[in-house]
Amino acid sequence: MKDIIRMKTSLSEEIESMLNNQVKMEAKSSAIYLAMAAYCDQLGFENSSDFFFAQADEERMHMLKIFKYIADAGGSPISPEVTDVPQEFESFRGVFESALEQEIEVTKAINKILTVAYKDGDHATANFLQWFVKEQQEEEYTARRRVELFDVIGEEGIGRYMIDQKIAGISAPAEAGPTE
Ligand code: FEO
Repeated sequence: MKDIIRMKTSLSEEIESMLNNQVKMEAKSSAIYLAMAAYCDQLGFENSSDFFFAQADEERMHMLKIFKYIADAGGSPISPEVTDVPQEFESFRGVFESALEQEIEVTKAINKILTVAYKDGDHATANFLQWFVKEQQEEEYTARRRVELFDVIGEEGIGRYMIDQKIAGISAPAEAGPTE
């Protein structure tokens, strides 16, 4: 039965399995961001909480995008089981450091799939993943900027309040080059 199903897709077993792992990774990222949203809310950092709620949605969208790609390519997407989601975090700053580490891990995972896709000559998957390469570049950049706020503003006095005010205002870098 599996052989018949496999004949319907140009995805190699390795790529399909890596993509399914990525579905799981995005689902877990979404769940962790949700836990981070709750943690920030409990600390009273409303903007940070809203930011992580929105981020949880984004990661779910990433998961769906890959899931649908596997399905559209004739593969077998697997609805992921998400376990071991941390519910406690070390500190307000620690949450943002974990978010940055999480994004770096996602970037590495996407790069690994791309490397295999190029090696296999799987241009459709390589082309599909380009969107994620750009997305990760932006997410890593903004996650790093958010962590930097803790050093730039400092956590003393009203520092944390100020950091929470600035969290949502960080956006992806503008493209360099001519303005016209
Ligand atoms: Fe979809 Fe930010 O990893």
